[in-house]
Amino acid sequence: MAKALGGGFLKHGHDVMMGTRAPGKLADWAKQNGKAGIGGFADAAKFAELGVLAVKGAAATEALRAAGAANLAGKPVIDATNPIADAAPVNGVLKFYTSLDESQMERLQREFSNVRFVKAFNSVGNASMVNPRFPGGKPTTFICGNDEAAKRIVSGILDQFGWETADMGKAEAARAIEPLCMLWCIPGFLRNDWSHAFKLLA
Ligand SMILES: NC(=O)c1ccc[n+]([C@@H]2O[C@H](COP(=O)([O-])OP(=O)(O)OC[C@H]3O[C@@H](n4cnc5c(N)ncnc54)[C@H](OP(=O)(O)O)[C@@H]3O)[C@@H](O)[C@H]2O)c1
Repeated sequence: MAKALGGGFLKHGHDVMMGTRAPGKLADWAKQNGKAGIGGFADAAKFAELGVLAVKGAAATEALRAAGAANLAGKPVIDATNPIADAAPVNGVLKFYTSLDESQMERLQREFSNVRFVKAFNSVGNASMVNPRFPGGKPTTFICGNDEAAKRIVSGILDQFGWETADMGKAEAARAIEPLCMLWCIPGFLRNDWSHAFKLLA
């Protein structure tokens, strides 16, 4: 996921630094994407004007602590994570460790109150994240977050990445946006069909 988005930012002319616990495992990716830097989470957080959180959902807090709250303070951070539990899906339906009254992003926003989180990119597969082409036209990414300016910045990125943006409001809307990942994955688990995206018709 991080590789797909990192490649997208490079394609659109942005500077990129990938943060990881194990820089060596990104050596091949770094060779193919010569302009990208590779470092630890804190290096990437310091480097970023805009952060992207693309780690295993249950590790998000740990990764943000490693990145350092001070290094991300005041910065927009795209939260692409999903709170997927370790338990196996039931009839293709993933299990979440959050509830419908408290999303992953709200938890992160509460602990890292100076970070301007924007939920985005969580409910599409990594193969379709950057300038996707679907017969049904441009797909929609649902976003939310408490900071309007941060959402405008992320909408600009989504525009570059070939997406329509539907702003669903404040952080609480992540309670509805995160489960779209469950819906998106069902055809994959049931029929091995992973090539689709959502579109909001109005
Ligand atoms: N794959 C997709 O198509 C897709 C689509 C939409 C949303 N997402 C979301 O994007 C996130 C990443 O998904 P993924 O598919 O790339 O695989 P993943 O296995 O969910 O996450 C892999 C990443 O998590 C990091 N990580 C794992 N445990 C960690 C820990 N204890 N502390 C810090 N970092 C840790 C790894 O960092 P290291 O590099 O240090 O190992 C690696 O970068 C997930 O939340 C997923 O729900 C994925």
